[in-house]
Amino acid sequence: MPVPERVSQTASELRAEIAYHNELYHGKDSPEISDAAFDEILRKLTELEAKYPELLDDVSPTQIIGSGTTTFDPVTHRVPMTSLDNAMDAAELQAWGERAAKGLNNVAMQFACELKIDGLALSIRYENGELVQAATRGDGKVGEDVTANVRTIGVIPKKLITKSGVAVPSVLEVRGEVYMSIEAFKKFREAKMRENEKRVQEGKKPESVPANPRNAGAGSLRQKNAHVTATRELSFWAYQLGEVVGAPNFLTHTQTLDYLRSLGFPINPEVKTLDSLSKVVDFCKQWEASRHDLNYEIDGVVVKLDDLAQREQLGFTSRAPRWAIAVKFAPEERNTILKNISVSIGRTGRATPFAVLEPVVLSGSTVSMATLHNREQVLLKDVRPGDTVVVRKAGDVIPEVVGPVLALRPKNLKPWKFPTTCVCDLKSKLVQVEGESDTRCVEPECPFQRDQRIIHFASRGAMDIEGLGEKTVFALSDKNFVTDIGDLYSLTLEKLLQLDGFAELSAKNLLMAINDSKSRLLPKLLVGLGIKNLGPAAAESLARRFGSLDAIIAATPEQLSEIDGVGEVIATKINAWFADKSHMAIIKKFRAAGVEFGNVVVSTAPQNLVGKAIVVTGTVEGFSREGAQEAITSRGGKSPGSVSAKTFALVVGDEPGASKLTKAQELGVPIVDAAGFLKLLESGEVPS
Ligand code: IVH
Repeated sequence: MPVPERVSQTASELRAEIAYHNELYHGKDSPEISDAAFDEILRKLTELEAKYPELLDDVSPTQIIGSGTTTFDPVTHRVPMTSLDNAMDAAELQAWGERAAKGLNNVAMQFACELKIDGLALSIRYENGELVQAATRGDGKVGEDVTANVRTIGVIPKKLITKSGVAVPSVLEVRGEVYMSIEAFKKFREAKMRENEKRVQEGKKPESVPANPRNAGAGSLRQKNAHVTATRELSFWAYQLGEVVGAPNFLTHTQTLDYLRSLGFPINPEVKTLDSLSKVVDFCKQWEASRHDLNYEIDGVVVKLDDLAQREQLGFTSRAPRWAIAVKFAPEERNTILKNISVSIGRTGRATPFAVLEPVVLSGSTVSMATLHNREQVLLKDVRPGDTVVVRKAGDVIPEVVGPVLALRPKNLKPWKFPTTCVCDLKSKLVQVEGESDTRCVEPECPFQRDQRIIHFASRGAMDIEGLGEKTVFALSDKNFVTDIGDLYSLTLEKLLQLDGFAELSAKNLLMAINDSKSRLLPKLLVGLGIKNLGPAAAESLARRFGSLDAIIAATPEQLSEIDGVGEVIATKINAWFADKSHMAIIKKFRAAGVEFGNVVVSTAPQNLVGKAIVVTGTVEGFSREGAQEAITSRGGKSPGSVSAKTFALVVGDEPGASKLTKAQELGVPIVDAAGFLKLLESGEVPS
């Protein structure tokens, strides 16, 4: 088919675009667009070339990987480092499986499934057991010599020794992924942010901070000075061989990995060999859901035929092996336009800037708003309305603006200034509190704060009033039916029926839920009051010690501060809260409505875990998630959500989070199973 002028024009534009982004990604470690956006452009070109084969030639980027930009010495790979074809969903995986089966005359296949590590591919060459060279992938044919830098990575063997005493291969090229763990990245990013804070204070421009572990890892590996790389805590997983002379004759990929493991290479523990594509689909689904339990980033699953003879039979296309496929997860990071920056007001008056975005689909949901945390963060990130920004939504975590794409910033874009007045009708002042990074609206009557206080009171962690969500609170507030949390108890059917969307049944249900909340336990009521810094653990201790709300109101700050988890600061805040007339008016409304003030369940359990922090991960046999935590707190212990050096023990149930386990192992925190947990509850000590 002749190629229409318009089509060849589009193809050359796509080629230019791909070349530009390849250069940024491989040459400068500073991509402007996400992997997903890049794949999309490449896909468009591949589709055009499939339709008009005349467009295809040897130099098309669909036939070449990477840009080939080399600032280090070039290294020609003896065995090319090819890329992988992608499957974006189960149907594309299935189609790949069918092609492979056809190429093998429908013999049975075993699939070695590995996590697709979001790092930088590396080939390490050993000659007679000595590490002689390490190179990046580059364009697949020629990479960059990063030997000196790779020598600084602790987990990579510098000398190979076989345990059996059998001679090591005369040549062994080990391929795998260099990456920065999430923990190392957080530390690195925080240090960079601190440096930037200093720069800003000194009137200098902040330096760009790597947006994700991949960029930080790639930048660290490609340092000119190996001493800098040595400070960066890089890690490595080995997953493939390049040139090999004199190694044992492997029949399967699994044997290859076993051999590499025996030589001391880190092999990812999650690799699994499966015998059907439906099991592979389940493996992919499971990892897409639990990718955040890992201490490193993955962006998919690599499925490889396990049988090396089958691989040989299928061979390669010009770009990638036919015997492997990368199943990509839904992207978590994308570029979009920052339309505006607005400010939301929380229940304590905290003004939180947030980004109004051109909607993008991330982790499977549409994101049109993202937090910017506080004034400092906006300043440090220097995001401006009109910028193209990198937005990230990792799983269930709230979406975040990572930073601007400076290369795409339109000219004359002005830095954003934090507003000086609140967005509410009162136009009250927004004040930056001394010694705090927060900016606050200091007007307690601010309707935004008032609404948020009511939403908090009704929330799950507090009085748990079903059916009283954000929308209903705004509607009640608009009609002036509630001005504080005390007013909730004088709502009537007649009033609720005036709200949009409420009918007899829904109104009665809400009234019933409000009525039920009157008998909540005292700690829940205390949390619901919204006293700054008074969290559930301190509320629990207060309720246990004082027994009623009236006793807490009557207590002096000194008496309050004696309670475990209530320091002087919180004690003063509690005391001040009850000293406020408007707050005591609320208490009066509660009392009149019959809200219970002394509902404290006194635990009969032995108080043998006082002062001990026990973290639970996974489902512990015989306990619900909350039940396991309750068993700890009812014995006076704490059950925080993360492991630290202070953790007394980590209880590991079924399907535990990998990061908690790794952290506990690193810190030497005792680990107990379900049976050990029972003993721990009984004795208060870690069973030996
Ligand atoms: S195998 C010929 N296995 O993904 C097969 N690659 O999109 C070569 N990657 O260039 C690659 N984890 O940088 C393989 N377990 C894994 C991987 C993996 C991450 C990267 C690698 C590769 C890219 C292809």
